[in-house]
Amino acid sequence: MKYIEAQNYKLEIGSLVNSSLSELLKSSYAKSKKVIIVDENTKEYCLDALITNFDDLKEAEVILLPVGEENKQLFIVQNVWEALTEYGVGRHDLIINLGGGVITDMGGFIASCYKRGCDFINIPTSLLSMVDASLGGKTGVNLGYYKNQIGVFSNPVALFLDPSFLETLPDDEYLSGYAEMIKHGLISDAQLFTDVINCMNGEFEFNEELLIRCIEVKNKIVLIDPNEKGIRKILNFGHTIGHVIEGFYMESSISHGHAVAIGMVMEAYISMKKNGLSEIEYMTIENSILGFYGLPKFSDEDIQEMIEMLQNDKKNSNNEIKCCLLKSIGDCTYDQVVSEKIFLETFLHFKNKQINLN
Ligand SMILES: NC(=O)c1ccc[n+]([C@@H]2O[C@H](COP(=O)([O-])OP(=O)(O)OC[C@H]3O[C@@H](n4cnc5c(N)ncnc54)[C@H](O)[C@@H]3O)[C@@H](O)[C@H]2O)c1
Repeated sequence: MKYIEAQNYKLEIGSLVNSSLSELLKSSYAKSKKVIIVDENTKEYCLDALITNFDDLKEAEVILLPVGEENKQLFIVQNVWEALTEYGVGRHDLIINLGGGVITDMGGFIASCYKRGCDFINIPTSLLSMVDASLGGKTGVNLGYYKNQIGVFSNPVALFLDPSFLETLPDDEYLSGYAEMIKHGLISDAQLFTDVINCMNGEFEFNEELLIRCIEVKNKIVLIDPNEKGIRKILNFGHTIGHVIEGFYMESSISHGHAVAIGMVMEAYISMKKNGLSEIEYMTIENSILGFYGLPKFSDEDIQEMIEMLQNDKKNSNNEIKCCLLKSIGDCTYDQVVSEKIFLETFLHFKNKQINLN
């Protein structure tokens, strides 16, 4: 079991049965009602492992949410709050979020606002939620096509990360998670970037050490700047454009990681144009990423719409679009003002690159 010092909660990596979950349930939550939030896939593939191994969860209420980013919306949250009320769940009860980033984001938000805040535990089951979404305290939902517009910073009481859940994860969801791992390398550690790409290329098998290195990148940044006033902003590299792509293509189900991967290539292109990223490094990034993630096709009208969506990005201020840009691989700057003209040129540059969207 690996223990990582997080903000004010336990972060344990390793087999759930060897973790402190059982002890936590018996000590702090012995008399509490327990509610487990799952989606259709984590109900099928992950719930049994939890309920059969932990007697204290045998009586837990299970709330099943529909799969997918398009369901990360307030009306679902309201349904869950109503269900919690029906079950008589109170402030001293416990919610366990068992799932990918949609479940940990939405479940964290549900718990944090219910009766002004009720304790929750995150048990991430997708690669993306293990390396990124479940840690750091950002919770929330989308507002229509606008990503994560409603939410709060709120930490779980514990985060248990058991890599064995990944055994049932489909390949394209692995790929989605790898995108955030690539990001952790690009923003802070050139060797990590190379290692993640080499792992994706099959030079060595995915392993727990690589997972832990990625988690440590995020955790260290969050510890310095939990409320994203400064350095934490670099974790948004690739997300200014990525969130717009994810929102724009929500109906055709382009995954979060896929959208972020495309966003990273496009923001690296802007970094080369205006932030001193060398052409050689830019080409390394483009070739590494586009080898795995196909570019979506966009028309001139699509581009116009996406640029309008950029104006609603959460990081903007004073009517300026703010972006994270690389200086080199492993070194990222934030709060860089990027004009609509540059975004337009960037989208047009990528418009004609070949498509491979599944
Ligand atoms: N809060 C943050 O800091 C943060 C950071 C990054 C991403 N996010 C959010 O995370 C979300 C993306 O996360 P995601 O990719 O995990 O999405 P997701 O929760 O939709 O999971 C992806 C898919 O994998 C399935 N799945 C999950 N675990 C499985 C398992 N063990 N076996 C089989 N199938 C499994 C899910 O049912 C779903 O179909 C986005 O909404 C994004 O905005 C949040």
